Amino acid sequence: MAIADIDARDTRQIAASFDLTKLPPDFYADPYPYYRALREHEPVKRMPDGSWFLTRYDDIVPVYRDFKAFSSDKKKEFGAKYGATPLFEHHTTSLIFNDPPLHTRVRRAIVGAISQRHIAAMEPGLVKLVDGLLALMSEKREVDLIDDFAAAIPIGIIGNLLGVPHDERGPLRGWSLDILGALEPVLTVERAAGGNRAVTDMLAYLKTLVDERRAHLRDPDTDVLTRLIVGEEGGEPLTENQLLHQCIFLLNAGHETTTNLIGSALHALSKWPDQKAKLIEQSDDVERMKTAVEEFLRYESSVQLGNRITTAEVEVGGFKLPPDSRITIGIGAANRDPAQFAEPERLDVGRTPNRHLAFGTGAHQCAGMALARLEGAIAISRFMARFPNYALSGEPVRGGRVRFRGFLNVPCRVG
Ligand code: HEM
Repeated sequence: MAIADIDARDTRQIAASFDLTKLPPDFYADPYPYYRALREHEPVKRMPDGSWFLTRYDDIVPVYRDFKAFSSDKKKEFGAKYGATPLFEHHTTSLIFNDPPLHTRVRRAIVGAISQRHIAAMEPGLVKLVDGLLALMSEKREVDLIDDFAAAIPIGIIGNLLGVPHDERGPLRGWSLDILGALEPVLTVERAAGGNRAVTDMLAYLKTLVDERRAHLRDPDTDVLTRLIVGEEGGEPLTENQLLHQCIFLLNAGHETTTNLIGSALHALSKWPDQKAKLIEQSDDVERMKTAVEEFLRYESSVQLGNRITTAEVEVGGFKLPPDSRITIGIGAANRDPAQFAEPERLDVGRTPNRHLAFGTGAHQCAGMALARLEGAIAISRFMARFPNYALSGEPVRGGRVRFRGFLNVPCRVG
């Protein structure tokens, strides 16, 4: 059934038969009609595997806010999903899938080292990186918006954050795609094998990086890795294993997500010519560009799903959920909820207010959001100023993921 026919189908039936582990092929291109059907008919959806899928903004915010009743600890869930493997060790150690006290300790170190001051200091390097990519693209004319631009930016920035030498950054994107790919609702044999291999290879690489940094510590005020190695003042440092897994997480967290923000924004603008024209007119207005970036984050949220598990009996959207209920948070669905956003299916680069949930909210809210916002604003504004007449020149290829929404390739003509 094509997406165009979806309105004609019984939306109640779409909601009733929805199963995140058995998605129809057209879901990947356009999940939003499905999200709409769920919001309207079964916003607290019990899935065949016993888990719950939430799609309404007002049901999701309280879940994010109450980290005690809605835990991020995934040991039970991932034990069943991964078995005793490197993927299990990695995902259950990284801060995003932990509760306090480990979460609090690691988060403090990371947030302290990615403060506004540190981010502002990265800006000149970011501008130089983006301008270098734009210059290369203008020589080629036929480009891939992902390979030639969107993916190259976070590799540069995140690599700098941990001080990964330039000539060692080659495998980072592949590792990141493989490790995060294993978080998809369905874990295929290939995804598990690729993810396990990537964790093993990345651990081996980071061990050499960490050993080298231990021998030559840098300024903990500006170097995230040194800060993680020495620990917070008065606090207990991380164990070697914890440290290596937080590094893997950090390298991955800001990678595919930011690539998708930039890639999806440029793709969306090519489909909304009036919004593109509006943005070109104001591409040197920093405040307006910041507003537009919020709209790209809302309209095509790079992270579409989040997860929690209940620690006690709780009420969500009028349903009583028992302890140990697995919850999937529909970020992409909440960000198109008409109860929160006027005309949510419309891209509006001037939308205010825009209280989207692309970065989550509450205790686990994205620790790198200021950096992601800066990367998005600089990349998109400079691209638009340089190539105002860019146009898609072939069929874009989606990443084929449900949790992370973006493209693998977007062929484009820039000259
Ligand atoms: C457009 C880009 C990005 C998006 C959409 C995004 C989205 C998210 C979301 C939704 C969460 C919350 C997960 C939850 O509550 O379960 C999160 C957490 C996190 N993100 Fe991002 N992220 C982006 C970029 C980045 C960057 C650039 C970095 C690092 C430099 C980063 C580092 C983190 C960290 C460390 C956490 C874990 C926070 C915690 O558990 O306390 N992210 N991100």
